[in-house]
Amino acid sequence: MAEDLNIISGTKTEQYQSLIPQIVALIEGEPDLIANLANVVASLKEQFGWLWVGFYVVGPTKDSMDTSELVLAPFQGPVACTRIRKGRGVCGACWQQSTTIIVPDVEKFPGHIACSSLSKSEIVVPVVRNGEVVAVLDVDSEDLNHFDETDKLHLEKIVGLIRF
Ligand code: SME
Repeated sequence: MAEDLNIISGTKTEQYQSLIPQIVALIEGEPDLIANLANVVASLKEQFGWLWVGFYVVGPTKDSMDTSELVLAPFQGPVACTRIRKGRGVCGACWQQSTTIIVPDVEKFPGHIACSSLSKSEIVVPVVRNGEVVAVLDVDSEDLNHFDETDKLHLEKIVGLIRF
């Protein structure tokens, strides 16, 4: 396909419904994980214009191959913290609980890791394969209370499309 994204205006649902087939076309048949993660976050950033959107992938710590933590992977937005331990911040909580977490106001989430002072609300979606969390998709907004069940539904669908 042409590598141009068709950006539309409309409701949140309409935007996701337009974007998802384009994401499928971008990543189908491509086995390279980094390329696919990069195109998924670029597509989301272009359509929605969020402050930050990116993946953290479960990988070994710097000191030991036997312990794992979340490691920064393809993203769009301001530079971000590189490593997050299980249970730490919203991302680490999402990993630990293996469930999507919507944070309407990051200042009210105990232990939230502030990578950018501009971030006001956040959603983190786990990528689960064979019952294990292998990565999380993290999205930050400059607006309070920005994410809802519509984002949860569609972002969970999008991470399900990626071959890990
Ligand atoms: N806020 C996240 C950290 C990652 S940055 O937002 C990109 C957290 O609390 O886990």
